[in-house]
Amino acid sequence: MKPPMIPFLNLVPTYAASKAGIDAALLRVAASGWYLLGDELDQFEADYAAYCGAAHCAGVANGLDALELALKALGVGPGDEVIVPSHTYIATWLAVSACGATPIPVEPIPATYNIDASRIEAAITSRTRVVLPVHLYGQAADMDAINSVAARRGLSVLDDCAQAHAALYKGRKVGSLARISAWSFYPGKNLGAMGDAGAVVTCDAALDAQVRMLRNYGSRLKYQNEVKGTNSRLDDIQAAVLAVKLKDLDRATAERRHIAARLLDGLAGLPLTLPHVPEWASPVWHLFVVRHADREGFQARLAERGIGTLIHYPVPPHRQPAYAEMGLMEGAFPIAEALHREVLSLPLWPGMTEAQIDQIIEAVRDCA
Ligand SMILES: Cc1ncc(COP(=O)(O)O)c(C=O)c1O
Repeated sequence: MKPPMIPFLNLVPTYAASKAGIDAALLRVAASGWYLLGDELDQFEADYAAYCGAAHCAGVANGLDALELALKALGVGPGDEVIVPSHTYIATWLAVSACGATPIPVEPIPATYNIDASRIEAAITSRTRVVLPVHLYGQAADMDAINSVAARRGLSVLDDCAQAHAALYKGRKVGSLARISAWSFYPGKNLGAMGDAGAVVTCDAALDAQVRMLRNYGSRLKYQNEVKGTNSRLDDIQAAVLAVKLKDLDRATAERRHIAARLLDGLAGLPLTLPHVPEWASPVWHLFVVRHADREGFQARLAERGIGTLIHYPVPPHRQPAYAEMGLMEGAFPIAEALHREVLSLPLWPGMTEAQIDQIIEAVRDCA
């Protein structure tokens, strides 16, 4: 008999782990009659800032808005440049473009997939305002090296933490490492809402106040609009759900680490590249990404064995039609291009059984 299919992602066990708390939170907000900028949002913002080891958290509508509003709070606008990874989800770049600024790509370290700090200096010009690293797949970028080049050149660092809730860098929490950090709580993230949600976290009270003003029509006081802001609020239902799920995040992260350890152990010695973890990193395994020379064939063989996989990401931002105007041809960023050709994400989600982990290991061993 064929073993049951293992989907790439299954969010039902994560809901089940906090069901009583989530259900109560949903009903409580429904009955409260207050749905925006209320007590539930205040509470989650306080909880999440404390969790990150930061002073302030401002909830916003999604992760893309979190990046855009953080950049705007830092004063980024038309004519400015922002250093971004060449290998990332396109949202990192889109936020820069939304400010009217230009994303300047920098290649990753192939082993860790994160931006190579030693290449940043060469990309800085008189127009550069911000360095925007991403903690990709749940593993921190080398923040000491990034902060040091930024400080030397008088630049701010905003980190894209969308994939790295609870990740540690040299024992310090992601969210406390840069001047300001942007978060997504998209449902599939390690801390996920039941819809779109995001946040901006910082220790800088002035930046926090700026984000709060921008997210609410550019207004600090009702009907007084200082700038052309936007409507990007994290609603109280999502905030209440997130506050419940935050209590379960450390347990869920431990489960992800257990599954990753089993995969690393069970998949050793195969003709594929396994994730590399520097000694200073404690990743949270948002994604478990391997590289294979014949990625498409490998993915098709796994699909036949009932193993769901995804590609993060098939086309680098500079090769997307959205960025055709930059005129960056094939070969412009060869490390990112090679990664995009080879990466494949295996299933890894809290609630996966030991038998399912065994099934993935067996299938990958046969298909690699
Ligand atoms: C690295 C990265 N940055 C930004 C985002 C944008 O987040 P959202 O989908 O909540 O807008 C995502 C998620 O999709 C992401 O993975």
